[in-house]
Amino acid sequence: MTEVLKLCHEATGDEISLPVSEGTVRATDLLQLKVRGEPLATFDPGFFNTAVCHSAITYIDGDEGVLQYRGYRVEDLAENSTYLETAYLLLNGELPTAGQLADWEQTITEHRQLPDKLRILLNGFPYDAHPMSMLMASTAAFFTFYPDSQDYTDLASRALNIARLIGKMPTLAAFCYRKGKAKPYVDPDDSYGYCHNFLAMLFKQAERKYAADPRLIRAMEVLFILHADHEQNCSTNAVRSVASSGNDLYTCVSAGVGALHGPLHGGANEAVLKMLREIGSPDQIPEFVAAVKRGERRMMGFGHRVYKNYDPRAKIIRKAVADVFDITGVNPLLRVAQELEKIALNDEYFASRKLYPNVDFYSGLIYEALGFPPQMFTVLFAIPRTAGWLAQYQECVTDPELRIARPKQIYTGAGHRSYVPIAERG
Ligand code: ACO
Repeated sequence: MTEVLKLCHEATGDEISLPVSEGTVRATDLLQLKVRGEPLATFDPGFFNTAVCHSAITYIDGDEGVLQYRGYRVEDLAENSTYLETAYLLLNGELPTAGQLADWEQTITEHRQLPDKLRILLNGFPYDAHPMSMLMASTAAFFTFYPDSQDYTDLASRALNIARLIGKMPTLAAFCYRKGKAKPYVDPDDSYGYCHNFLAMLFKQAERKYAADPRLIRAMEVLFILHADHEQNCSTNAVRSVASSGNDLYTCVSAGVGALHGPLHGGANEAVLKMLREIGSPDQIPEFVAAVKRGERRMMGFGHRVYKNYDPRAKIIRKAVADVFDITGVNPLLRVAQELEKIALNDEYFASRKLYPNVDFYSGLIYEALGFPPQMFTVLFAIPRTAGWLAQYQECVTDPELRIARPKQIYTGAGHRSYVPIAERG
């Protein structure tokens, strides 16, 4: 039996019936009800309570702190999978067999190289250009090299361009990093796996082969798995929104990179380190927390639109911090972070608002221990999120319910005014 919600306009007595399906009512059904002659709409800045698509990729239960990709718990994937295996799962809906995984890894390896002319583009950026800006511009520029991606309805072309971008993203990121350091680019080494090769392209000096500690490679895999997708967040919404006008996947991912760059989204881990540095030592924490409670400061790395419990990714990263610090030595800011977390979790302000550490609270500490400058932190988020963006892109452009994104507004500007010639303006 269909559930129905009745909505009555008290002043006129007009009544409409809204069928409830999957816990939602159709916003367009509200159009039937006229209020002061105008069809009724909803007002929802930031999409707090508006579903914009059906999706079978990622499931989050924010109250329970659950995150699943295609039904698999992220904890299990972080424990047992590699990033490329997880990317395959996100894109195809199933974990690969051993043969499928080997083919997929081979395909991605074949697409690691950047077009030569893209190096010229990278060389043209200012010496201190932010790597996220270079990444965003270069991702968009890929379309000029692969215009076949415009036909997103062609399955083979779409698969090819998805593999191209997943293959090239670490190379692009590493080149942006080396450009900032004025160091020569290191070409991909096909004998290395995805994360090992990435570390080599970043940190290789004059040695013939780059030997990375396997524990660091594993830490990188885990971080990449945890960042691979997160359903309809700000950057994914940007990807889907740009896809809705019929764009190629490079343009869409470039929009995702731009959205991710913001300090309230992927840029938060950079902001966390800045905050921890400003606090400096545990004895300064009470003063900082008091400033947060007065609304003068924001506790970066805390709070989430969806999680009203501990972010499951933060739990895993918190554990990984210890492993990484075993190899690299302890970052003294860890003590500040741990004490800050303890104080916040026991404070009524944070408890009543259900503010818990999110994925970014500890990830910056690991990235810094691995030798990355803060400007690279969001780039390290963008590389793995590319798989999620592409899975969401693919789902979006094949969705029969897809309509071009075009929200309503409530106009608050001036009413009609007569034009005043420039000579007569006061
Ligand atoms: N520090 C202090 N207070 C906070 C914080 C915070 N980090 N986050 C939320 N609040 C407070 C708000 O001031 C508000 O209080 P009020 O009810 O007294 O006005 C209440 O909690 C609700 O917060 P909103 O801003 O309405 O929550 P929203 O869902 O819009 O924001 C966001 C979520 C942007 C993540 C927010 O919690 C925030 O700014 N956090 C810090 C930045 C951050 O860590 N971002 C990374 C998120 S994870 C990711 O993107 C990968």
